[in-house]
Amino acid sequence: MAQRKTTEETTDQSYWSEYTNLQFIKHQLLKKYLDAWFPILSKFNGQVSYVESHAGRGKHIRGEPGSPIVALKSLLDHHYRDEILKNSSVGFYFIEKYSDSVKDLKDEIANLGELPKNVSYSIIQEDHEKVFQDICDRLDESPGAQLTPSFIFYDPYSFLMPVDKMTRLLQKSKCEILINFMWRYLNLAINNEQPGQVERLNSMFGDESWKNLRDVPKESRCDATLLLLKEKFKADHMWSVKMYDKKNVLKYVLVHFSNHPTAFNKMKDAAWSLAEHGDFRFWQSDDPNQETLLVAKPNLKPLHDAVLKKYGANQVHLHDTYEVVDLSPFRKPHYHSLLRELYKSKNLILHDQDKLVFSKNPLISFV
Ligand SMILES: C[S@@+](CC[C@H](N)C(=O)[O-])C[C@H]1O[C@@H](n2cnc3c(N)ncnc32)[C@H](O)[C@@H]1O
Repeated sequence: MAQRKTTEETTDQSYWSEYTNLQFIKHQLLKKYLDAWFPILSKFNGQVSYVESHAGRGKHIRGEPGSPIVALKSLLDHHYRDEILKNSSVGFYFIEKYSDSVKDLKDEIANLGELPKNVSYSIIQEDHEKVFQDICDRLDESPGAQLTPSFIFYDPYSFLMPVDKMTRLLQKSKCEILINFMWRYLNLAINNEQPGQVERLNSMFGDESWKNLRDVPKESRCDATLLLLKEKFKADHMWSVKMYDKKNVLKYVLVHFSNHPTAFNKMKDAAWSLAEHGDFRFWQSDDPNQETLLVAKPNLKPLHDAVLKKYGANQVHLHDTYEVVDLSPFRKPHYHSLLRELYKSKNLILHDQDKLVFSKNPLISFV
């Protein structure tokens, strides 16, 4: 049986003995996203998989559910559960290295009662890297093989697994990865070059390119790290939510990599739904200098600037301008409220209609 090292034991104990706002947010983001993911994916695919790399115990000491239960309950309590499961099956795969956690997790899942037909789960007691290596080996053995559409939640205490495995998985169609990592831990490793960690960083990034991150100023180093990972993973889309503590120190980063615009937009929606729960920031990969606060009433000036920059005073159909919104951290409802304000203040002109009705796709120009 795998035994935890002393430092890992301490980290594990303290992780499960508390339930911080950051842990709550991680679970909320997962839940909100899966609420949208299950119906979309199951509509087009017979089989979908939810995979967790570091499943954990299934319950915190104070009683709050861990991520495997959050994920299972997102499906079991889903408003459209029967429709989702009518033509598709959902497999949950929970990887956990340590037998004590595996036992606790089994008990917690059993407490959910009998699972509906077409829902299955499996707890894999193994090192996650070995499991993902086996998957990659099997994919290599049969070129052209595809994974079932999969959502991978990757939630380690320390480093990420080697870049080649992440890239292999992400290149499979409809596979996406949500990663939760401790920025402080990674940043310290990048700074200090301790023996043992250099090797881990080399394999996490695939080469020594991470060393250049040391020259990036402190305040933008996390963004530069995310960009480097996006490039290494060859992911088309990335969305990140950064979580700060009360002293405004960046603690955790939740980052989603995918190759599909729908996945990106759904993750964006899920993140905005957290706005009421605290001080989070979104960073848009195209514009590292512009962080957006995820708050109930965000400052929409960057969105206004973006449409002005793109269209100037030219006439354009409103629906065509949505492409700017898609590339921004903002959602369509934000854009609509900006347009209403601009119309009221006569900074938006309608050319072929009398009233601002979004669904009628008016010809507009900005002043
Ligand atoms: C951050 S906790 C997981 C929390 C869980 N995802 C949640 O949100 O409820 C990390 C877990 O990973 C497990 N673990 C540590 N090293 C592992 C490895 N190499 N492979 C798989 N699991 C591992 C630990 O036992 C611990 O339960």
